[in-house]
Amino acid sequence: MNKILVANLKMNLSRDEIINYKNILSNCKNLIVCPSNIHLELLKGSFSLGAQDGYYIDKGPYTGEVSFYQLKDMVSYCIIGHSERRRLFGESDELIIKKLNSCINNGITPILCVGESIEEKNSGITFDVLKRQLSNLNISSSILIAYEPVYAIGTGVVPSNEDIEKAHLFIKEEIKKLYNVDVKVLYGGSVNLENAKSICSINNVDGLLIGGSSNDPNNMLNIINKINL
Ligand code: PGA
Repeated sequence: MNKILVANLKMNLSRDEIINYKNILSNCKNLIVCPSNIHLELLKGSFSLGAQDGYYIDKGPYTGEVSFYQLKDMVSYCIIGHSERRRLFGESDELIIKKLNSCINNGITPILCVGESIEEKNSGITFDVLKRQLSNLNISSSILIAYEPVYAIGTGVVPSNEDIEKAHLFIKEEIKKLYNVDVKVLYGGSVNLENAKSICSINNVDGLLIGGSSNDPNNMLNIINKINL
């Protein structure tokens, strides 16, 4: 299967664990790995690299931030608007749009995360939420979208195949309608060794964004092998 696989390592793995990660997975050249920024240099040359976040102003007095301008020599991708950023760090749709623009302007392909909460799903407003998260973007070239329902992240709860298919189709149609751009849509949220292959074979699923299950390199290798069978 020719699918895009992204490993979101989040704030995990020590330096030694990253070196082990690289040793075990370095044959998987197509894997996009998003480590903590301090580990990017260690992984350079072994994988396609992504950052987990970035700041939208190129340079200036923003202590603790790392800009897309600074990341551009190191990564080809950056996750933008992950639900942990939206929920734990209060990132608004407006801030996420600024980050998306800066990411694109610096030549980095954004992996824009969208998805509804369980309350929104239960109220039947999934598509309204997706529509809001996808509006007012300024995209003319291809970006990656990750459909990550908030309730599925790190919980073991996965939407039905039918719900995933519908959401992915909606996202593709909406982006085409609004911006006349074709996008690839990845699914993220509680992907594991057991469900990865079947989620990958759902219509309009172009790949996976894997969090917890990607952190153990042996498990990640098993997932890759299973998907490629
Ligand atoms: P998870 O996380 O695979 O641990 O659910 C996915 C993500 O947060 O990108």
